[in-house]
Amino acid sequence: MLAIDTRPIVLTGDRTTGPLHLGHYVGSLKSRLALQDDHRQFLLLADAQALTDNGDDPGRVGRNVAEVALDYLAVGVDPEKSTICVQSRLPALAELTMLYMNFVTVSRLERNPTVKQEIVQRGFQRDIPAGFLCYPVAQAADITAFKAVLVPVGEDQLPMIEQSNEIVRRINRQAGRDVLPEARALVPSQGRLPGVDGRAKMSKSAGNAIPLSASPAEISAAVQAMFTDPDHLKASDPGRVEGNVVFTYLDAFDVPEELEVLKAHYRRGGLGDMVLKRRLDARLQALLAPIRERRAEFAKRPDFVMDLIRAGTERAAALTRETLDEIKTALGLFSFGRA
Ligand code: TRP
Repeated sequence: MLAIDTRPIVLTGDRTTGPLHLGHYVGSLKSRLALQDDHRQFLLLADAQALTDNGDDPGRVGRNVAEVALDYLAVGVDPEKSTICVQSRLPALAELTMLYMNFVTVSRLERNPTVKQEIVQRGFQRDIPAGFLCYPVAQAADITAFKAVLVPVGEDQLPMIEQSNEIVRRINRQAGRDVLPEARALVPSQGRLPGVDGRAKMSKSAGNAIPLSASPAEISAAVQAMFTDPDHLKASDPGRVEGNVVFTYLDAFDVPEELEVLKAHYRRGGLGDMVLKRRLDARLQALLAPIRERRAEFAKRPDFVMDLIRAGTERAAALTRETLDEIKTALGLFSFGRA
């Protein structure tokens, strides 16, 4: 056995509803790559959570587990350094969720801003699946079962971390000692990437996302479709940079110093949208080409990928089971005595 791994534990996850896109890359995949060297990182293929609003299509949720795993490997997640695991195959998470349900009120769940907003967006009203209302509890189970102290997520996930920490404090208070650590969200300094249509969030379901696996032609088409400044009709017109989707993307993928010069030029007038779009297109093609190639290579080895996530899930199962037992004991729940 190697020495005990004392690196801080990181956990993130992605719902397996479809392949990941550029928004995920900017929002959290990039920070995961940076973290995997000196942290003990777990990546959760969150199929159980995906089911909370996809009860009408469980097959899609199942099929996309491997797709998201491929995306992880394609962007450079190193399976030697990070553990990739499947949520629905970690029974301790489900058990822990049930346990935590007793420490969370329905009114608190209904106040969760992200859930609240999603209920409106999906038009659930009172027909919200119970699992969906409770997914913050399940996410608290995810985070705490791994004893994660750092959770790289997009800004919209901050209420989840807050609610998880509330549960942690509640459990620790009940146990009379710190069984669980609180977690800190790691939000990218760079804001969220909007959809190519200018809508606030890039999402596959809205059809305004650029998947990491997009072909060169798909990338170009998405860039061409991007909203700019509707009042910038001729290249010679002065243009607006704020709210201009092409500039928002350039902010994420271009060199800041060069971009300042371009922005000043655009504001003054004399810089056409086509020039900017060609520049962004080149940046995105350069970023995504190696990702697409690596993805295709891994996709040729489905058994290898499956073995990898199976091994990762086994490691995660042992760890999460251990935490669950520890919490049960700390709370004074029933035990047969000797293990
Ligand atoms: N809710 C996250 C999302 O929609 C996915 C997720 C599930 C997650 N479990 C997690 C993120 C645990 C961080 C930690 O993106």
